[in-house]
Amino acid sequence: MKYSNSSILVVGGAGFIGLHVNKMLNAHGYNTVIFDDLSQGNRQAIKWGIFSEGSLNYKENIEKVFSENSIQAVMHFAALTDVGESVNDPAKYYTQNVVNTLNLLEVMRLHEVKTIVFSSSAAIFGIPHSPHIDETHACVPINPYGKSKLIIETILSDYDVAYGLKSSSLRYFNAAGGDPDGEIKNYKHKENNLIPIILRSLLNSKSSPVTIFGTDYPTADGTCIRDYIHVNDLASAHILAMEYLLKENHSSHYNLGNGNGFSVWEVINSVERVTGKKVNVIEGARRPGDPPILVADSQKAMRELGWYGKYTELDTMVAHAWKALL
Ligand SMILES: NC(=O)c1ccc[n+]([C@@H]2O[C@H](COP(=O)([O-])OP(=O)(O)OC[C@H]3O[C@@H](n4cnc5c(N)ncnc54)[C@H](O)[C@@H]3O)[C@@H](O)[C@H]2O)c1
Repeated sequence: MKYSNSSILVVGGAGFIGLHVNKMLNAHGYNTVIFDDLSQGNRQAIKWGIFSEGSLNYKENIEKVFSENSIQAVMHFAALTDVGESVNDPAKYYTQNVVNTLNLLEVMRLHEVKTIVFSSSAAIFGIPHSPHIDETHACVPINPYGKSKLIIETILSDYDVAYGLKSSSLRYFNAAGGDPDGEIKNYKHKENNLIPIILRSLLNSKSSPVTIFGTDYPTADGTCIRDYIHVNDLASAHILAMEYLLKENHSSHYNLGNGNGFSVWEVINSVERVTGKKVNVIEGARRPGDPPILVADSQKAMRELGWYGKYTELDTMVAHAWKALL
């Protein structure tokens, strides 16, 4: 359901995932407005849609973008995302993630915009009680980052009951890959995810070491297994989730992953295959709170949204992430 003179507001659209979703929205014929304070994102990378610089910290910035544009729906990516930092500075995370989302929701209410797709995270599940995680899994986050995401999901559910705000919370596992066309580059100042951390270690003339945290887990090669989902598969899920919300007017949440886990050694081997370079590995101790296996069960998204992952091969994700760095 596209309204020709209205736009999708992509909040945090200058960041890694938002950039790819914004590109796909435009390819699907949607008008977009990107709202971002560029604290993590990159201005140069925004090649589609209208850019409105502003921060969720200031309601007047949000008010301005809603007054100047006709917004049909919101996609909300803006957040701080470093789990370790959230443990050391929870105030920063609850302010940036929770309070700022309340600011956004307040302005949405004022302007009667009632559709939002929210970037949640697998971090809401905490230590899993089963390796494959579906939407019935208990939500017991173990760090302020995960807690901030769960608090927002709770707020969205209450806002639906009270104000009729319809939301889709997408719990991503590890976003990976890059633009298959190579048009979106990786400008991140700091990487939190394994694949780009390893790839960046190869950019220096003498490859810097990459530490594997634990090689004695009960997995085939002793390293942790994680679910990596290609950023373009996340992008298609966002569009399907938004269209489902606009059509069915029914709030929901979905776990989004590849459904196949890959161990740290498998990722390293893939990086070496794709780049033809040797990774300088240090075998380190386990980190507290790292479960051996974390894999998404995304059948609900497949069933309800008709979503499926197109780029599920590890080598493809690594090749696209590498292209984005070169
Ligand atoms: N990358 C992953 O693997 C992953 C996994 C699970 C969930 N998520 C969630 O997905 C979302 C996007 O992640 P990402 O990797 O693209 O992060 P990112 O840091 O690349 O993008 C976030 C964007 O939000 C902007 N932003 C931050 N604070 C803002 C504010 N106050 N006002 C306006 N803009 C602001 C940043 O400048 C940046 O462009 C986040 O909410 C994150 O928690 C990411």
